[in-house]
Amino acid sequence: MFTQELLQNQVILVTGGGTGLGKSMAKAMARHGATVILASRKAEVLAAVKAEFESESLNCRVKTCDVRSPEEVNDLISWIVEECGHLDAVINNAAGNFISPTELLSPKGFDVIVDIVLKGTFYLTHAAGTYWITSKRKGTILNITTTYADSGSGYVVPSACAKSGVNAMTRSLAVEWARYGIRLNAIAPGPIPTEGAFSRLLPGEGWEEKVKRRVPSNRFGTHEELANLALFLVSDLSSFITGEIIRLDGGEQLNGAGQFNGLSEIPQEVWPELAVKMRKGTK
Ligand code: HXC
Ligand code: NAP
Repeated sequence: MFTQELLQNQVILVTGGGTGLGKSMAKAMARHGATVILASRKAEVLAAVKAEFESESLNCRVKTCDVRSPEEVNDLISWIVEECGHLDAVINNAAGNFISPTELLSPKGFDVIVDIVLKGTFYLTHAAGTYWITSKRKGTILNITTTYADSGSGYVVPSACAKSGVNAMTRSLAVEWARYGIRLNAIAPGPIPTEGAFSRLLPGEGWEEKVKRRVPSNRFGTHEELANLALFLVSDLSSFITGEIIRLDGGEQLNGAGQFNGLSEIPQEVWPELAVKMRKGTK
């Protein structure tokens, strides 16, 4: 679907790009011609990933940055422009999350998630947006949120609040900054296996299967499926799309919403007999 030159000459920053979904999206971008910058807190993780990219002849630079620090974020954007000449897109993928009954959370437990996810995304978006506006360049922001950002979810309240704020930021700035040629979109993935997410969000044995069963297609999403959508949204192929939050969840969210979706439990062969009974109004 995509040509190898899709992102030729593009410089793309992926926060949290050293692990999990960020790394997979960054690799896909680099395989389609982009120079990718991977930024996160852990220098050793970044160094290992840089070597991995280089072994595949993929253009990649790495820089440590804690997105909770506006100074570090501003320095990162200046460094990219100095090193690479320009910046074209930012994927706000860095996040923190854990499960906890909300009454057991400490104020710092709430703060740490909101600081990474909501404030970190704002600092990056603000720094990149300001750079694009002052240098009269167009730019693209892709935010990685979650399906529960709009519905809310128990046991991940800090994350739900923060990701919901990121969705609001995406929709608000898509309008405010459209005049500068800046597009903002978000992907809301359903469950996709990564060490970072699954080790923190599944409380124990059997839960992986339970989570999978919530997805009507009865499988997890793949890194490639996410990367394909990210490629499209970051590239000019989607140049008239802005302010969208696109779910990539195999129908999981709608499965929970539709009142009668639980009827999928009824085996297909039972339906003809059941239909006769129901027409007669008997149970
Ligand atoms: C309750 C917790 C907690 C937990 C930490 N805290 N873990 N509270 N339950 N499991 C509290 C601590 O007690 C502390 O408060 C405060 O949070 C800060 O904790 P630190 O460990 O000092 O923070 P830090 O070292 O900065 O680590 C940040 C982190 C960590 C978010 C807690 O998990 C992390 O580095 N995560 C990065 C990667 C990540 O989370 N990936 C998953 C993304 S998955 P007190 O008051 O005690 O000092 C995702 C997917 C969602 O978002 C959708 C899936 C389908
Ligand atoms: P992950 O591997 O744990 O990714 C999180 C990344 O964020 C890590 O690389 C981490 O690197 C970085 N990070 C955390 N705090 C940071 C900070 N303060 N500054 C800079 N970087 C920071 O988990 P993942 O599953 O790939 O998640 C990636 C994104 O997808 C997240 O936004 C997540 O909410 C979203 N998502 C995932 C799923 C899923 O099922 N996997 C579903 C929905 C949404 P360092 O530790 O080196 O800083």
